[in-house]
Amino acid sequence: MRCDEIRLTGSGGANRVMEAELKRLVMRSPFDVRVPKPKREGEATLLYPFDPRIAWVAACHHRTSSRISWDLFSSEAVRLEPLFEELLPALTADDRLPTARSLRFSVDLGSAQDFEASPLQLRGVVKNALVEALASRGVTADVDADEPEVVFVARRAGTPDNRRTVVGIDIGGGARHRRGARVAAGPAPLRETMAAQLIMLSRWDARSEPLVDPMAGGGTIPIEAAGLAVGAAIRHPSQLPFHRLAAFAGLPNETPNLFPGTVPRILALDVDEQRIPAMVGNLRAAGLTGASYESSIVIGQRDVRGLTPEAVSSLLRAVKEMSPGVFCFNPPYGVRVGREDGEEKLLDLYAEMGRVMAGFTGWRAACFVANPHFVEAFGHFPTMSKPATNAELTGAFLTYQF
Ligand SMILES: C[S@@+](CC[C@H](N)C(=O)[O-])C[C@H]1O[C@@H](n2cnc3c(N)ncnc32)[C@H](O)[C@@H]1O
Repeated sequence: MRCDEIRLTGSGGANRVMEAELKRLVMRSPFDVRVPKPKREGEATLLYPFDPRIAWVAACHHRTSSRISWDLFSSEAVRLEPLFEELLPALTADDRLPTARSLRFSVDLGSAQDFEASPLQLRGVVKNALVEALASRGVTADVDADEPEVVFVARRAGTPDNRRTVVGIDIGGGARHRRGARVAAGPAPLRETMAAQLIMLSRWDARSEPLVDPMAGGGTIPIEAAGLAVGAAIRHPSQLPFHRLAAFAGLPNETPNLFPGTVPRILALDVDEQRIPAMVGNLRAAGLTGASYESSIVIGQRDVRGLTPEAVSSLLRAVKEMSPGVFCFNPPYGVRVGREDGEEKLLDLYAEMGRVMAGFTGWRAACFVANPHFVEAFGHFPTMSKPATNAELTGAFLTYQF
């Protein structure tokens, strides 16, 4: 069955934030188009009717999604032969496929546990159908897993009572937490997509509020914050398969910031002096150093336990009285960082952080924590608690109001 949808996949529970972010970006994009209400598939997938302009904005700018694809075909088939029998004629008749004379492509697999053959076999059938279908349209297609021009995706998807095998094109440039900028990750990095989600959940207004990450490690949160503030692209159209797909013909080749003129005030601190050069390197790799960022992004070595509103104000060189802002952070959990200090010291740190932040009247906080004792030790009642997973670590997003 032919389908025609943009699929945004995120981490568990990301739906609302992904929807809000896309709406905000499209509103500021060069296109006069309204984003329709998406269909939701579970907690972590949004489906929009395909519109190349919305797909373009999502693929170039959207920060909270992990993958973006264009669904072309969906079937109830769970076995190889019936799938091939449906897929081949559907693809053969599909004028949305690439039209160049030759094509290097690969097939990625999403989740396919309930397909009744091995993942390798599923991938093989989709590859064969693509090669045959493209050949019948005059395209010589070769599988090239290392340097594909177009990546197709096959997965099982849908709701529990309507599971389907879906084939589409990856239009988001692969795993989107890989922004291509981080030079040194540090021992416990937060995924970029998670950092973006965390900042969205903090409801940070970059035009008027400072953002402080008091334990910034490799700087993931400050870098994402700077990008979100100005609507910077995370993918350039030339990195995406747009020029192979007729649907995207005529769309822009450049991606200027969608919120130009916003000058955020971001403070990135960490107690560990070894984190500072890594942070500077990552900011530089992301193009966020130099004169134009001097008063916008400040890095410092500090212990969060001694932080005061006056210290934040002076570090950010605030000229007039600073308005309340947001803390965005992910503290050590005692799994990858903090274990050497013991659980008791970690809980003391959380309690101390709770006391420090209580002194920031009017501020909000958002954090991702994978320690079940954090909330109690921190000593404040969260305004929101949302289960989430960062690279196999199960935890929660929490928000606070002080
Ligand atoms: C989980 S890591 C943060 C990772 C970071 N979000 C990233 O993506 O790279 C926690 C950080 O807290 C820092 N830290 C631990 N105790 C601290 C303290 N008392 N004050 C400030 N930073 C502290 C550690 O040095 C570490 O870099």
